[in-house]
Amino acid sequence: MESFQIPILLILLKIPSVFTFPMPPGDLYFAKQYLKNFYNLQDDSSGVLQGSQDAFRAQVKEMQEFFGLQVTGELDSSTLNVMRRPRCGVQDALQYSHGPGNLKWKHKNLTYSIVNYTYRLKQRDVNNAIKNALKVWSDVTPLTFTRIFNGDADILISFQYRAHGDRSPFDGPNGILAHAFAPGKNIGGDIHFDWEESWTMNSEGYNLFLVAAHEIGHALGMGHSQDVGALMYPTYGYIDTKDYVLPLDDVKGIQALYGPSNKPDRRRHPKTPNKCDNSLEFDAACTLRGEKFFFKDRFMWRIHPYQQRAELAIISSQWPFLTSKIDASYENKIKDHNVFFQGTQFWPVKGYDLLSRFPQSIYLFGFPHTVKKIDAAVQISKTGKSFFFVGNQYWSYDEKSNRMDEGYPKLIEDGWPGVKSPIDAALQENDLIYLFHKFMTFHFNYENKEVIRIVYAYSNTCK
Ligand SMILES: *[C@@H]1O[C@H](CO)[C@@H](O)[C@H](O)[C@H]1NC(C)=O
Ligand SMILES: *[C@@H]1O[C@H](CO)[C@@H](O)[C@H](O)[C@H]1NC(C)=O
Ligand SMILES: [Zn+2]
Ligand SMILES: [Zn+2]
Repeated sequence: MESFQIPILLILLKIPSVFTFPMPPGDLYFAKQYLKNFYNLQDDSSGVLQGSQDAFRAQVKEMQEFFGLQVTGELDSSTLNVMRRPRCGVQDALQYSHGPGNLKWKHKNLTYSIVNYTYRLKQRDVNNAIKNALKVWSDVTPLTFTRIFNGDADILISFQYRAHGDRSPFDGPNGILAHAFAPGKNIGGDIHFDWEESWTMNSEGYNLFLVAAHEIGHALGMGHSQDVGALMYPTYGYIDTKDYVLPLDDVKGIQALYGPSNKPDRRRHPKTPNKCDNSLEFDAACTLRGEKFFFKDRFMWRIHPYQQRAELAIISSQWPFLTSKIDASYENKIKDHNVFFQGTQFWPVKGYDLLSRFPQSIYLFGFPHTVKKIDAAVQISKTGKSFFFVGNQYWSYDEKSNRMDEGYPKLIEDGWPGVKSPIDAALQENDLIYLFHKFMTFHFNYENKEVIRIVYAYSNTCK
């Protein structure tokens, strides 16, 4: 039986994100193209501005649903921001993953062939990236992959330039990175990489291993996942490729198609945190120009003041240099920047832009060298003091004189009575300081120096 083939495109849209009201026609045109490419918006000959509003709204809603946004049918700024994110071009609506009856290989001993290469990488590096990307999937299934050197392989892997005969032309640097075809004869299972991308073996440009692992998922019958932590999420995002372990969502998806591996698997497959998990604990929290951010592993929830709903994202999708978990963060309203702490280093950021090319040393704040990591940080904008929490102690830093205040560190139990240490994260909102300890949030009135209530940490994100 000849199967219906859907090309799967990995797309990266790099367009500056400025949203003003009323909607610039360019945004509407862009959104329509997006919904035609990845959802089911039909071409309408009546032009961009008239057209069928209902059909358009329905597709916007479907897209908002997929990405876990507030479902309004309106092209609001958070919807446009998500549309502008780097992403893969498969029709998100067409889910053919997870479950029986989907396209999958009938045999388990699959073959692959690398047809040609990119001049940007050594052939040996390409071979290894592909081999390791296949291993990601063979480690958790009964599938095996054998490389062959003639054209009859199940999975043909090639680098292709612009229009290349499958009616899914590549578009030069950025944009579409790669695409793959679901299991089947002929072009089925084949993977095409855009020859013009800057393929790398590291965090710069596009990491060939990560894109290959995603595309192999499609070549095995996987569709896109709505889980932002999944390899099969539509957008490209760099994560550390050393000791890469397939996320749990992808493991469940591929095992639903092929069953588990008969080799024992003792690795912990990363699970995306759930904003309504009542044992949820945060690594860090901060405000940023009216929004609130809560950090957990390589993820963050972001709460827009008018939208309330907590949106989950990968930290590095906003701040590419933050590729692993952060310890602490605070908004320095006096200097209009944010600071992210990782170990003995910190990154100063203005909005989304890094203020220095390299991370700075936390000892610039005046910490003794015995401090190896900051647990939490918060600024009281009224007094111009920033507080840093380390173990059962805290420091007070004067942002105007750029100096640590005299007499610190002090004990948290003395300065913040009723609050349990160590403090994981801290945040200022209106007249309250929120201090997080494990699954608890202490609402602290700074003027009266008292805890006024204690709520679950997850109550901040479970909305
Ligand atoms: C895969 O296994 C089947 C059944 O054991 C066998 O007939 C076939 O030749 C094998 N193919 C390859 C490429 O090894
Ligand atoms: C790679 O090989 C394929 C298949 O032979 C060919 O169509 C394509 O043009 C080649 N790619 C490049 C960049 O030459
Ligand atoms: Zn994809
Ligand atoms: Zn192609």
